[in-house]
Amino acid sequence: MSEQPTSSGAPATPFSLEGKTALVTGGAKRIGRALALALAEAGANVLVHYRSSAGETAEVCTEAEEFGVSAKAVQADLSAPRDWEAFIADCRVWRGSLDILVNNASIYPSDQLGDFNEASFLENMRVHALTPALLIRAFAAGLERGRIVNLLDTRILGDDRTHLSYHLSKRTLHSLTKLAALEYAPRITVNAIAPGPILPPPGEGAEYMERARGFVPLNRTGTLKEIADAVLFLLRSDFITGQVLFVDGGRHLYGGPYG
Ligand SMILES: NC(=O)c1ccc[n+]([C@@H]2O[C@H](COP(=O)([O-])OP(=O)(O)OC[C@H]3O[C@@H](n4cnc5c(N)ncnc54)[C@H](OP(=O)(O)O)[C@@H]3O)[C@@H](O)[C@H]2O)c1
Repeated sequence: MSEQPTSSGAPATPFSLEGKTALVTGGAKRIGRALALALAEAGANVLVHYRSSAGETAEVCTEAEEFGVSAKAVQADLSAPRDWEAFIADCRVWRGSLDILVNNASIYPSDQLGDFNEASFLENMRVHALTPALLIRAFAAGLERGRIVNLLDTRILGDDRTHLSYHLSKRTLHSLTKLAALEYAPRITVNAIAPGPILPPPGEGAEYMERARGFVPLNRTGTLKEIADAVLFLLRSDFITGQVLFVDGGRHLYGGPYG
């Protein structure tokens, strides 16, 4: 049933996360895991998507349920063609609605213009741009009121020559965020978070983070909680759409160089 707006046009009831259902892609570990658990703590049922981390995802679901919500693991390879409308339809059937989509899953290969290969370029484009676009379209179809948050990277404002495919695909996701915000207003808000250094990429450790800190005006790296808080803030807002929130200690103000 459609809600009657107030005289300002604002919805009669603010968007509460309690009782809503959220899909978080790449929710098994790291930032995605923190987002799935933060949503659960806020009262949302969570579909925790994974590609290969089945065991970790089961643990996230168990932890999420400790907050008194329902949680379910869903597997899909976002780099492969698939009927994403059917995938979203299955997600919706679980609790009878799907209200929140968080496009978090990601890869982070190194490549440059001089050595990139087509397969990796296309994989990045699929994981960070094409599949999110298809998920967004399927999610939005017929939905009366919903929320989308895309995970970008502080580097979208600079030019990261050393992660060419990643960089171009995240830039595409940035444009997609704005296009979808316009396309689906006023029913659905579409925003993004651009994290700075939060966790080192696979194969890197404390030294990497220490180096990264040197490029952050606030002189530290970020926490999982700071990302989760920012995502929840955007999800709850009824008057923010098409926005990118840089949760990066000011890193975007410097732009490059990146390494
Ligand atoms: N970490 C940071 O400091 C940082 C900084 C800037 C931006 N970000 C952004 O924040 C988000 C989360 O970062 P993160 O470091 O936590 O991510 P991550 O650990 O690199 O990746 C998250 C998950 O993405 C999933 N994934 C990768 N390829 C997939 C595919 N083809 N199909 C389905 N799932 C796939 C993986 O799932 P499985 O494990 O199940 O295979 C992985 O656990 C990303 O969008 C990233 O670009 C992070």
